[in-house]
Amino acid sequence: MHLCYSVRSSPIRAPCARTFYSDAMLSQQELKQQAADAALQFVDEVAAPDVVIGVGTGSTADLFIDGLAAYQGRIRGAVASSERSAARLASHGIEVFDLNDVAWMPIYVDGADEIDDHLHMIKGGGGALTREKIVASVAEKFICIADESKLVEHMGTFPLPIEVIPMAREAVARIVRLLGGTPNLRAGFTTDNGNVILDVKGMRITEPQGLEKVLNDIPGVVTNGLFALRGADVALLATQSGVRRLDKPRHAWPSLARPRRCGAPARRLDDGIDSRDQPLQRRPRLCRVDPAEGQVGGDAFVQPCRLGPQAAGAAQRIARRGNIPAT
Ligand code: A5P
Repeated sequence: MHLCYSVRSSPIRAPCARTFYSDAMLSQQELKQQAADAALQFVDEVAAPDVVIGVGTGSTADLFIDGLAAYQGRIRGAVASSERSAARLASHGIEVFDLNDVAWMPIYVDGADEIDDHLHMIKGGGGALTREKIVASVAEKFICIADESKLVEHMGTFPLPIEVIPMAREAVARIVRLLGGTPNLRAGFTTDNGNVILDVKGMRITEPQGLEKVLNDIPGVVTNGLFALRGADVALLATQSGVRRLDKPRHAWPSLARPRRCGAPARRLDDGIDSRDQPLQRRPRLCRVDPAEGQVGGDAFVQPCRLGPQAAGAAQRIARRGNIPAT
């Protein structure tokens, strides 16, 4: 066991792959292993014969899946965010469930390509971003596992993946250029959903939540790799001196996993339904663009987000084309 520590919460002890006493630097692979092993503590906390957990995709998630082999019989199974992860889970004898048969999961464990200290992430380097976002949305807690190199002050050095319906590739790319990005088609790659990926370089990501919404509102976009509207709840970042735990800043985003009554005062939504009767997981849509303020948002559940000048301009242009009702 190796002592892990936290910057925003009490120290945790997590099982780690090795105890080290020498000055030898751990390789990136060893750091990934430590992060993956640390996440098993969360599996221990929720393990029960009827519990299904969510599992991500990537090299770090692969190590977590290997660790899950020991939980055969202690959990009911897992929902995978990709065909690749499903095959790896099955190879360890872990039953893989269709998400349509699972209403709720206590945890979702996955890696990230970049993560900031608000626990917003860029994901999708492995191309599984859409299923990752869907599976994560059904989990109570998103646990991000990564080596410390993934922690950044500002996201955007890693090209932002966008999954696109093939016929919309050029149409989406044109709008992405208006937003200041340089899209590149991921060569020879098709997602598990039969779509293509545009990897976008040069995007200024100053307001990740606003940009996530603007990109998702472009016709033809399936989803983009910003995980900011629903970021991670906990990040386990392996460093040379142990696994560092970061916790989501309080009230950063609502949990989408469990239906809850909205505590806000009664208010009519544009479909005429009283918001108090709606579960929180009902996803908002872009419903207002204020050209003066550069604000996008204004729905019942998500606070308005401020966009930078480029994103605000693009949002206004999209709105003028009628894709977002500007009120
Ligand atoms: C898969 O589509 C991605 O979101 C991965 O979770 C992410 O790229 C992290 O992968 P690694 O653990 O391989 O760095």
